[in-house]
Amino acid sequence: MKKIVCLLGSPRPKGNSAVMAQALCEAAEAAGAEVQAFVLNKLTYRGCQGCLACKKDAEACVLDDDLTPVLEAVRGCDVLVLATPVYFGEVTAQLKGFIDRTFAYLKGGYQHLPRGERSRLASGKTLVFVIAQGHPREDLFTDIFPRYQYLLNWQGFTKSHLLRACSVYHQGDAAARPEVLEEARSLGRELAAAEK
Ligand SMILES: Cc1cc2nc3c(=O)[nH]c(=O)nc-3n(C[C@H](O)[C@H](O)[C@H](O)COP(=O)(O)O)c2cc1C
Repeated sequence: MKKIVCLLGSPRPKGNSAVMAQALCEAAEAAGAEVQAFVLNKLTYRGCQGCLACKKDAEACVLDDDLTPVLEAVRGCDVLVLATPVYFGEVTAQLKGFIDRTFAYLKGGYQHLPRGERSRLASGKTLVFVIAQGHPREDLFTDIFPRYQYLLNWQGFTKSHLLRACSVYHQGDAAARPEVLEEARSLGRELAAAEK
């Protein structure tokens, strides 16, 4: 059974990125996957402190806060869904805080290790980015996904998908776009059925 961990990075619990991620996760669940979701905005945590303990003696992040169980769940997942609105051309601060903490997945001396041996996570995990963008221009903010796709590949996310909707601004805009929801459901079914 596929294990999917979904992190909702928007402060709007019923916002566009959450609705898209929910459509994906519900379809994956209906197709047999197990889904665990976390609403980052409800959690209390700090960003990476740059202490480098995880590059010396510690095998995991030494901070003990609400992200600790999230980082543990992601270790065991097959698919990680990161849902976020575009905020000032970036992911939300809530999601960036999580991404920085995934630094602890990289082994000490990772810079000198061959690709595929740098991460404490098993290789072959799948990353899904769900992006809700208010601006209608599809050529804007296209850098977000490839940047994190590249960086999280180091952590073992060797496969990746993007689900993106532009011109969704108000809460409810994505829910009124059947083609966006169908793309999300279709990807959810595909992820549930994919080979590990
Ligand atoms: C603080 C803030 C910054 C935003 N910055 C951008 C931006 O840089 N580009 C853009 O297209 N939309 C921007 N938006 C609009 C959101 O991306 C849009 O409303 C999105 O649908 C919100 O997703 P959500 O409903 O999942 O929270 C911004 C909205 C807020 C509140």
